[in-house]
Amino acid sequence: MRRRRFRLADVTAVAFSAALALSCSQPAPPARTGSGPAPDIGYVPTPQNVVDKMLDVAEVKPTDVIYDLGCGDGRILVTAAKRYGARGVGFDIDPDRVAESRVNVRNAGVEDRVTIEQKNVFEVDLTPATVIALYLLPNLNVRLIPQLERLKPGSRVVSHDFDIDGVKPAGEWGVMAPKPSDPDKLREHKVFLWRAPIRREKGY
Ligand SMILES: C[S@@+](CC[C@H](N)C(=O)[O-])C[C@H]1O[C@@H](n2cnc3c(N)ncnc32)[C@H](O)[C@@H]1O
Repeated sequence: MRRRRFRLADVTAVAFSAALALSCSQPAPPARTGSGPAPDIGYVPTPQNVVDKMLDVAEVKPTDVIYDLGCGDGRILVTAAKRYGARGVGFDIDPDRVAESRVNVRNAGVEDRVTIEQKNVFEVDLTPATVIALYLLPNLNVRLIPQLERLKPGSRVVSHDFDIDGVKPAGEWGVMAPKPSDPDKLREHKVFLWRAPIRREKGY
């Protein structure tokens, strides 16, 4: 019998999901009931003040089209539509997250501007987007580079907590948010911004 080899990426993904799940400020998400491909990273929502910072540094406007790659409960797109009048498309591989996002979009009254699709982010054509939102693992951000390289010039990519190894950001910020496990304590969340054209630095 062949022994399964552990890859560093597997260990990182499990550790990240467990650590973030522990620090999650939201009620526990419903148990995953859907079938289909497993997510590459578990669901952990971005705190609302970090969402606000991401949209702020990306300078979101009513003419923007935001793609949230792994949209979770859809909060980034709902905020962008309500606050800035932007249009958005959320992609999530988990049917439970897709259903939850659609309910939140409907409840927020932004169905005319936001749609949610059940798709693997690595199979999505990103070229219609002018803003890309990410809260994925570092190795997943790197896997997205070939898709990000095709973005229209001037498009922005904004990521919560993780940068893109080999692609220099245009800006980096820290945002304090309460730890869900201990709301009296804060932890620093990172926000990274890139502007297209997205190019790998020499040597990567
Ligand atoms: C850390 S959560 C981020 C949720 C949301 N973007 C936010 O910031 O609040 C990552 C999300 O990515 C989804 N996901 C994981 N792998 C995916 C894949 N290959 N394609 C699409 N969605 C994926 C998960 O189901 C989860 O909802």
